Amino acid sequence: AKVAVLISGRGSNMQALAAHAGDAYEIVVVASDKPEAAGLAWALQAGLPTFALSPRGIGKQAYEAALDAALREAGAEWIALAGYMRLLSDDFVARWRGRIVNIHPSLLPKYKGLDTHARAIAAGDAEAGCSVHLVTEELDGGEVLGQARVPILPGDTPDTLAERVLAAEHRLYPAVLADMVRR
Ligand code: GRF
Repeated sequence: AKVAVLISGRGSNMQALAAHAGDAYEIVVVASDKPEAAGLAWALQAGLPTFALSPRGIGKQAYEAALDAALREAGAEWIALAGYMRLLSDDFVARWRGRIVNIHPSLLPKYKGLDTHARAIAAGDAEAGCSVHLVTEELDGGEVLGQARVPILPGDTPDTLAERVLAAEHRLYPAVLADMVRR
């Protein structure tokens, strides 16, 4: 299957997806809404096709139209969000219905949105984790396709917990994406 990966930053999940590309899926384009994203430089160096465009100055509608065109031109059948920090419009989601997945750093339905690790620690949870889910119009609200759990340890800060969860993300995302595109 042909997958587009959307990033906004570091791109460590994109790298994990790229490392596991093969029989199940290939990455046909890496797109970023932040032209300065570190992950974009990595993708370029890795020889992956890239597309960089910021909505700044052109507006969300024109931005999404250009993004949609670039993904289709690349032959993308699926979209994997990997640290993509922008909300896709209802129209965009509808055009790709059932074919957009995201990785979120919590055990959904707990802790949708931001600051998931601080919230899990503050709540006194014994474990945290990450979820790969279908993207719908509701933020972090689509069907959960797979989850991985990690313990929350005494003395954990949001940063130490994030590191443990991130390692789990890098294992979970390629496996769930491969399953998803095969079914
Ligand atoms: C990850 O924690 C992911 O779950 C969240 O944003 C972070 C992105 O990290 N959506 P990276 O850019 O993949 O390194």
